[in-house]
Amino acid sequence: MTARRKIEFQANAHRRSLDPSALAFLSEDVARSVRRFHAGLPGYAETPLHSLPALSRTLDLGAVFVKDESRRFGLNAFKGLGGSYAIAMHVSKNLLGRDEVCSYEELSSAAVRARIGGLTFVTATDGNHGRGVAWTAEQLGVKAIVHMPKGSSPVRAENIRSHGAQCTITEHNYDDTVRMAAEAAEANGWVLLQDTAWPGYETIPSWIMQGYLTLVSEAYEQLPQSGVDRPTHVFLQAGVGSFAAAIMGYCLSRAGNEPPRIVIVEPDQADCLFRSARTVDGRAEIVSGSMPTIMAGLACGEPSSVSWPLVRDHADVFCSVEDRVAADGMRILAAPAPDGDPPIVSGESGAVGAGLLYAIMQDPDLDPLKRQLGLDRESRVLLISTEGDTSPDIYRSIVWLGGDDR
Ligand SMILES: Cc1ncc(COP(=O)(O)O)c(C=O)c1O
Repeated sequence: MTARRKIEFQANAHRRSLDPSALAFLSEDVARSVRRFHAGLPGYAETPLHSLPALSRTLDLGAVFVKDESRRFGLNAFKGLGGSYAIAMHVSKNLLGRDEVCSYEELSSAAVRARIGGLTFVTATDGNHGRGVAWTAEQLGVKAIVHMPKGSSPVRAENIRSHGAQCTITEHNYDDTVRMAAEAAEANGWVLLQDTAWPGYETIPSWIMQGYLTLVSEAYEQLPQSGVDRPTHVFLQAGVGSFAAAIMGYCLSRAGNEPPRIVIVEPDQADCLFRSARTVDGRAEIVSGSMPTIMAGLACGEPSSVSWPLVRDHADVFCSVEDRVAADGMRILAAPAPDGDPPIVSGESGAVGAGLLYAIMQDPDLDPLKRQLGLDRESRVLLISTEGDTSPDIYRSIVWLGGDDR
């Protein structure tokens, strides 16, 4: 018997029929071009897609897969996919006047370096996005300035500085830190490279979302190696919702008549999409304040203006969960049953989908959600571990010592 976890869920009452035009910027064609770009970056390799047959037997599911983004470019998280593609698009389109993204080879040529050497990118981050931006800036010989919210992990800040970026931990929460970065960009003529959007600032965040498509396009290519064509269910963790909307958009644009069920999961302290889903008219709701949660990557209170309409129109269920659900997921993935599944190092924001899936299948109180999602022996569930142990001290305190909080 599992200890009960606090999990609230909301079936999506705003769901509309599939709108291919709204999702066109996240299609397979776009993903192919994004992936070609990433494949040219130093250190590119597909990340593993793990099949977890022992876990799926335990949970009475058909199959469970985990895409392990801890291996991405040696950055321990998926986020470098977005930052690198958006920087490349900005340089290609806005500075070099191209229609399409230039290859890394061209972008890092002496001729292009001479033109872009004076560029400065600025961003706000919980850690992972900033590290991706810093890493890309380092590759291209441009400058990166990164601001982190109050309480951010010093290890994550050091990792950002190790790529030559300037990095400070502010006195503000994530959303106010974003505003600070936007003001600094405006005042200094820097380029704001933010992974969330608002009216008037949507192009770069949309490129960042497109950057994430590489991981899901790889996953769809890897699934057939396990005899599976497509997932029936996709669990997507959300901060501002850019990641979730991007992956969802790709999955739906490839779905044909059998769209997978899309489950959005957020920490209960920063559940802005869940709260937005609960509004009568589907408007974006804001969570403010310090948003204390171990899921630092998901501690965002303001939905992205590009992603919210997409998930509002197309996701199936929104879940708001306590920190212990993420901690459960970390332990479940770290210490699999001895009969076959590989151990996976999955961080606080990476593992919450696994913890939620476990709870749904084990906790009788969540039977209505299980039924609603049609999770059964035919289900093939895709989880994405979006980060590894990006803060090793916190990871160990949770996985080794059973702590669920900082
Ligand atoms: C590890 C990890 N997973 C998921 C997310 C969520 O992404 P988004 O803010 O686009 O919803 C983040 C965001 O920083 C993250 O760092």
